[in-house]
Amino acid sequence: MSKRLAGKRIVITGAAQGIGLAMAEVFLKEGASLFLIDRDGPLLDREATRLKAEGGTVASTTADITDADAIAEAIRQAESTIGRPNALVNNAGINVFSEPLALSDADWQRCFDVNLKGAWNCSRAVLPGMIEEGGGVILNIASTHAFTIIPHTFPYPVAKHALLGMTKSLGIEYASRGIRVNALAPGYVLTQKAVEYWNSFPDPVAAEAETMKLHPGGRIATADEIARAALFLVSDECTFINATCLTVDGGLSVLHHP
Ligand SMILES: NC(=O)c1ccc[n+]([C@@H]2O[C@H](COP(=O)([O-])OP(=O)(O)OC[C@H]3O[C@@H](n4cnc5c(N)ncnc54)[C@H](O)[C@@H]3O)[C@@H](O)[C@H]2O)c1
Repeated sequence: MSKRLAGKRIVITGAAQGIGLAMAEVFLKEGASLFLIDRDGPLLDREATRLKAEGGTVASTTADITDADAIAEAIRQAESTIGRPNALVNNAGINVFSEPLALSDADWQRCFDVNLKGAWNCSRAVLPGMIEEGGGVILNIASTHAFTIIPHTFPYPVAKHALLGMTKSLGIEYASRGIRVNALAPGYVLTQKAVEYWNSFPDPVAAEAETMKLHPGGRIATADEIARAALFLVSDECTFINATCLTVDGGLSVLHHP
């Protein structure tokens, strides 16, 4: 049976750990060639070396997605190593959580630079090649924060709502060029980011238990469960899914909390 991502040359940002790394592992097993980007050079090098040793076609570069020139150069490197990207996963993202009036201008800027402008920098760098090739896929890793609000997490949900807006906008702009742009909205996922979130509470163990209780199934997602949904969205198994968002949260955002 042919692999589900045969012929896919995929750029993944924020690929050194968490959901990005889980996607790299799942995509490689399905025959994709990967170009991995992360700002954490040592961690990225370690993981890219490990994935290559397991037999995958993997190249990588250290870059910050907020630096448009560095990203343009990274995509040129992708072209010369794995070939012109026909898929991009905008996964790199950061939590910036505050009570609104306590937020500094610098933190507002940092939140939007990474969570929104970074995804645009990467999209802008791959779109001309996709247009020339007559098709491609962009997948933006959004969040349930893209359509629901948890108090005191401002302005992260504002940026994720905007990322969903960009998903729809670019999906419409480039549909006639054979390019699909979608979002995937995880709920809580067991990654370093989730651990840091719990550690920000006075009682991290109680905070973690509280998070689990919010979920109808009593648990949060693994990064692998998110990666498997992403696999479907970047594959050619959903060629008419465009400008939309797949929620992968175990029912969290549907459950009514009294
Ligand atoms: N973990 C969750 O519970 C959860 C839930 C919903 C959505 N998400 C989203 O999923 C995505 C991945 O989250 P994760 O939990 O795997 O995060 P993570 O913190 O485990 O990993 C994120 C990676 O992105 C990299 N990164 C951050 N900023 C960067 C930048 N400016 N340039 C290049 N690389 C950068 C980091 O170095 C890190 O390796 C994010 O967009 C996040 O908002 C996560």
